[in-house]
Amino acid sequence: MIMETNTLTLQDKIISLKQEKKAVILSHNYQIPQIQDIADFVGDSLELSKKSRDADCRVIAFCGVQFMAETAKILSPMRKVLLPVKEAGCPLAEMITAKDLIELKNKHPDAWVVCYVNTTAEIKALSDVCCTSANAVTVVKNIPVKKVIFVPDKNLGWWVQRNIPEKEIISWPGFCFVHENFSLSDLELARKFYPEAEVISHPECPREVLLRSDFVLSTSGMLKRAKKSDAKRFIIATEEGLIYRLKKENPAKEFYSLGSAKICLSMKRTGLDDLYLALEKEDCQVELAPEIIKKARIALERMVQFT
Ligand code: 13P
Ligand code: SF4
Repeated sequence: MIMETNTLTLQDKIISLKQEKKAVILSHNYQIPQIQDIADFVGDSLELSKKSRDADCRVIAFCGVQFMAETAKILSPMRKVLLPVKEAGCPLAEMITAKDLIELKNKHPDAWVVCYVNTTAEIKALSDVCCTSANAVTVVKNIPVKKVIFVPDKNLGWWVQRNIPEKEIISWPGFCFVHENFSLSDLELARKFYPEAEVISHPECPREVLLRSDFVLSTSGMLKRAKKSDAKRFIIATEEGLIYRLKKENPAKEFYSLGSAKICLSMKRTGLDDLYLALEKEDCQVELAPEIIKKARIALERMVQFT
């Protein structure tokens, strides 16, 4: 535990250390409020990838989960990328191994492989193109072949297929434990109590929830929609961390989690103490083999070309 003195708060110490180390602090939309508030930039996976690529700094302190920090390293190999809690993984990303993907590719040699950004660097290195929840439909639409292997999220894969019926999507059966828990019965109940509310869901939610939602969007897509909409009340089907930012940016509107609030424990592991220690010691660096960085970068660069 880092002790606060009377004169300097932990937040003050982080800010001065950040300046001394020429660091930039990036936070995903699901991080705890204290991390979101101290970050230089808060965003979804796509926005954070772009920020990592373009950041003018020596060090990137990435408050998120492993696959996000790895993506930052792939796009910014010359910078030190720190993941304050090295063990913060994404269970969805761990649902497919390199061996699984090689077998699938051998079965469908004529298909292109599209990997969701929620994958390990090794999986990205085996893929033709990467996508995020913000651009999955556009990326797949622009692929020059009909057959597409989509890994690892079955719900996002289904959503892409529904939006692009002309493609043949072979989807891996992975899912996010957090989003899989949103249910149609909770959605119907919310519609009954708040018939005027807008329901916005993340594409990792089960398909029956997606079908009954008003909008299916990435976390930053949700923020943009909430700002633009005339609705006063919103039912949100994604990890509860986003509700903090939605309320902060739209104080006159009301936001509720669909059903009970769903929490991604991996996203909540990073505290201010962890961030401070990461910046002080720089001992939680993301390290990837140069060969993996080179191959995975092709999939990430193609994502940008295809959108
Ligand atoms: P976004 O890219 O929409 O921020 O989602 C990332 C994620 O992990 C969703 O569970
Ligand atoms: Fe992974 Fe789900 Fe957590 Fe997102 S919310 S980081 S997909 S476990």
